[in-house]
Amino acid sequence: MAAKVGVGLLGLGTVGGGVASILQSPGERHPLVNELELIRVAVRDLNRPRPVVLDESLLTTDPSAVIQDPAVDVVVEVIGGLEPARSLILQAIAAGKSVVTANKAVIARHGQEIAEAAAAAGVYVLIEAAVGGGIPIIEPLKQSLGGNRINRVSGIINGTTNYILTRMAEEGAAYDAVLKDAQDLGYAEADPAADVDGLDAADKIAILATLAFGGSVERAAVPTEGISGLQGVDVDYANQLGYGVKLLAVAERMAASGDPLPLSLRVQPTLVPKDHPLAGVNGVNNAILVEGDPIGRVMFYGPGAGAGPTASAVVADILNIAGIRQASDGPGKVDPLLAAGSWRPCALVESGDIRQRHYVRFKTKDAPGVIGNVGGCFGQRKVSIQSIVQFNASDAGAEIVVITHEVSQRQMDEALQAIQALPEVLGLAAHLGCLQGDK
Ligand SMILES: NC(=O)c1ccc[n+]([C@@H]2O[C@H](COP(=O)([O-])OP(=O)(O)OC[C@H]3O[C@@H](n4cnc5c(N)ncnc54)[C@H](OP(=O)(O)O)[C@@H]3O)[C@@H](O)[C@H]2O)c1
Repeated sequence: MAAKVGVGLLGLGTVGGGVASILQSPGERHPLVNELELIRVAVRDLNRPRPVVLDESLLTTDPSAVIQDPAVDVVVEVIGGLEPARSLILQAIAAGKSVVTANKAVIARHGQEIAEAAAAAGVYVLIEAAVGGGIPIIEPLKQSLGGNRINRVSGIINGTTNYILTRMAEEGAAYDAVLKDAQDLGYAEADPAADVDGLDAADKIAILATLAFGGSVERAAVPTEGISGLQGVDVDYANQLGYGVKLLAVAERMAASGDPLPLSLRVQPTLVPKDHPLAGVNGVNNAILVEGDPIGRVMFYGPGAGAGPTASAVVADILNIAGIRQASDGPGKVDPLLAAGSWRPCALVESGDIRQRHYVRFKTKDAPGVIGNVGGCFGQRKVSIQSIVQFNASDAGAEIVVITHEVSQRQMDEALQAIQALPEVLGLAAHLGCLQGDK
């Protein structure tokens, strides 16, 4: 019988607690779960009450003691944040231990450094839980879809913002009120910035782009806009025009090949046509749509966060490592898809070159000819319009909503500048992205 595989946990919070409880009840799961043994667990505060009951002797406040314990084969980093998480991952690799982490912040910024260290040390770093919580998306991108040329990955990859947007759409509720509710229910952090400002989604799309296109992308260069500026009126108008509003993260290739490969990445509140597969993804759920050649479209859908779903992904990674260890009787073979050799240069195109459809709302005077003048400014800059609608005309003014066909950001910016200079236009009140429908 093969030896047990020793697991060392760094962190016993939401995700760590979920992992520990799976390891404590292996019955009716994959037979290899029986072969995993929780050896040591690092926490910050030994006296904090825990949802899982663990032998106190397993707990320590010294993460290095977990990493260096000779019985630990796999180190699971579920502390979160950049430091000490990054240093602890590197320390584990240097000690010859494979690592499983749910930490998108570290992987999005230091993934290449970590992958190169892992390749040099001959160990694995697996990250299934870092994107999409319980949804298997990392391994499919690395393996199951490996025969495809991936053209685009787009998704709803932040559950907190999707919960807020779903309630805004269903109840006509204001952003601030729903955010407060989400915080009370534990769906949003006390400091919600990472979620509502789109930063968490930007970390995740940077990771997905790296896997889909085989190269590193500069996380800091990802154009990122969150939902905190989104107004209920735009959710309402979008609904009337046949769209939902989602915080969408998109990564797409801009050329068939290239060195560096040109990519476009963005995170932005975006109108999604109601017949689009991503439109029905509501509440805290996540979904990732992968478009590739020859597969076409494939969508991954499910719970994007939470103790159970995220622990499911972490344990799958531990099992992968355990399976490889047992098959090869020890480490030594490195996953070629996370090895340094597969990191080719990718370059993000300038934001002016990003092409997409746009939704814009102007506040205007209720003057004759205003729609024609707005339309004329778009036409002169070769921005073709899919629809232009006037709402709420009254003595106080009117609102004009325009949805364009696909244009470059540069063309759009030029047209918007000209429109805002029109005397009857009082201002640009909203500017969102808009996805193409299926029909
Ligand atoms: N929560 C989710 O649904 C979810 C989903 C996907 C990915 N993730 C990722 O998973 C990771 C963990 O998230 P979480 O929600 O489980 O966080 P959490 O509930 O805040 O738990 C963090 C754990 O790390 C421990 N810790 C913090 N600093 C430490 C240190 N210096 N030394 C030792 N232990 C330390 C804490 O100890 P104490 O308990 O003693 O304070 C706690 O047990 C993050 O990277 C997060 O982005 C989370």
